[in-house]
Amino acid sequence: MSVRLKVGFASQVLPASGTLVLFVGDDLVLPHHVAEHIGPAAVEGFARAAAAEKFKGKAKSALVVPAPAGLQADRLVVIGLGRASDREKTDAVALGGAMFAKIGSPRHAKVLVSGPADWPHGPEIAADLALGASLRAYSFDRYKTKKGDDEEKDAPQTLSFGVEDPAAAKKAWKTRDAVARGVVTARDLVNEPPNVLHPEEFGKRAAELSELGVEVEILDEKQLSKIGMRALLGVGQGSTRESRVVVMRWNGAKKKGVAPVCFVGKGVCFDTGGISIKPAGGMEDMKGDMAGAACVVGLMQALAARKAKVDAVGLIGLVENMPDGNAQRPGDIVASLSGQTIEIINTDAEGRLVLADVLWYAKERFKPAFMVDLATLTGAIMIALGQENAGLFSNDDALAERLSAAGTVTGETVWRMPLGPAYDKLIDSKFADMKNTGGRHGGSITAAQFLKRFVGDTPWAHLDIAGTGMGSPASDVNRSWASGWGVRLLDRLVADYYEG
Ligand code: BES
Ligand code: MN
Ligand code: ZN
Repeated sequence: MSVRLKVGFASQVLPASGTLVLFVGDDLVLPHHVAEHIGPAAVEGFARAAAAEKFKGKAKSALVVPAPAGLQADRLVVIGLGRASDREKTDAVALGGAMFAKIGSPRHAKVLVSGPADWPHGPEIAADLALGASLRAYSFDRYKTKKGDDEEKDAPQTLSFGVEDPAAAKKAWKTRDAVARGVVTARDLVNEPPNVLHPEEFGKRAAELSELGVEVEILDEKQLSKIGMRALLGVGQGSTRESRVVVMRWNGAKKKGVAPVCFVGKGVCFDTGGISIKPAGGMEDMKGDMAGAACVVGLMQALAARKAKVDAVGLIGLVENMPDGNAQRPGDIVASLSGQTIEIINTDAEGRLVLADVLWYAKERFKPAFMVDLATLTGAIMIALGQENAGLFSNDDALAERLSAAGTVTGETVWRMPLGPAYDKLIDSKFADMKNTGGRHGGSITAAQFLKRFVGDTPWAHLDIAGTGMGSPASDVNRSWASGWGVRLLDRLVADYYEG
């Protein structure tokens, strides 16, 4: 699936049909040149409609005027920017999403990116609006054989932004378009049903990144067994689907020989819980237990498509966790790639087993500057943080700070959680070096503590995205079950701190 919206940038001419979008602050004053442009009849019509609808120009509110007097456009949509003091805080990406939702059924719209003098309506803002609109335009309808007539389906296919400097806006859009497409890839992967997207198919989809210059390596079970990823293979051994590990490399740094940045994703294509089987209610959601891996693929796509000046490695561990005569049992002890042994207490705590081997492998093979892993790891993170923040665990304060900052900028926010020796004790085992669960309390922390045993001294951060990556609450920039969470966050982390 692709971005359903075609975005363009041109000069600020009025459209002859479709929707015209304008912006105003809470004073409802249209910028002088815009007022002149649309003419006195339209200005008067807007003022009357605003009064009739009690439109106050609040941030992200909209006034829709059908068949506006004095204009050729079929409708006029005026978007509020709120008070001057709010304007700087208003996230243009979220605003673009909210704007897109109000455009309605014409298949094309023109957005005049102008507003109060204190609104920084330059090329960057125009491109941010376009990003928000593209993300909002996404819907996953690959398996719907009948076309519905809901708002999303009627959404416009082309959005033209009227700006002062179209060339600069186009340039700013190029990088955002790359990111938007990465988010769409992540969403598509998470939304796909698990009968279609098993580990082998997931590997094939990841391999498509080679078109963008990403080197993709797919390790099959034979190779994984030779390498010694027994913790990962143990999770997949109850499934008729073979496990895979995919390594994706984007070499965009100008300087050679600098340690790469590294991203690791949990890719449990379906998590039944295994022998420690989950209850039936809501189990279908466990098709999304590969949202971490999907994010890593979407991120690598974004980095490659915008030719990021960085050496980045993405690794994903792809398995299916099934109950079966050959499935792993509680009580089993497996030897991980690191050499450390793990007693399986609960086969439903499988994500950490997959990540243990992939993290260790990534560290040994690539000696990265840092590793960030993403995983729909624990239900407990939703008890702690709801769906508003991902849980952040890290052994490195600088990396944690950078992730927090990137989260604030993108709106994909993280909340730091603790680690420590007292928690670590909770996963000591009677029979092996450790066990794979730590009891009822602090479930997200003991899971992170488990991962920490496989990263050595490498700066590392773990993002528990069980709450943010799937079953996502509706937002200005997303209506889909799968949010594609993390692509924008990590793209920003790389762009702000690791390129050049
Ligand atoms: N994939 C689940 C976590 C999850 C739950 C993600 C709900 C998204 C929504 C994970 O593999 C799991 O089952 N975790 C267990 C761990 C427990 C057995 C220690 C959990 O959270 O209950
Ligand atoms: Mn599980
Ligand atoms: Zn899982």
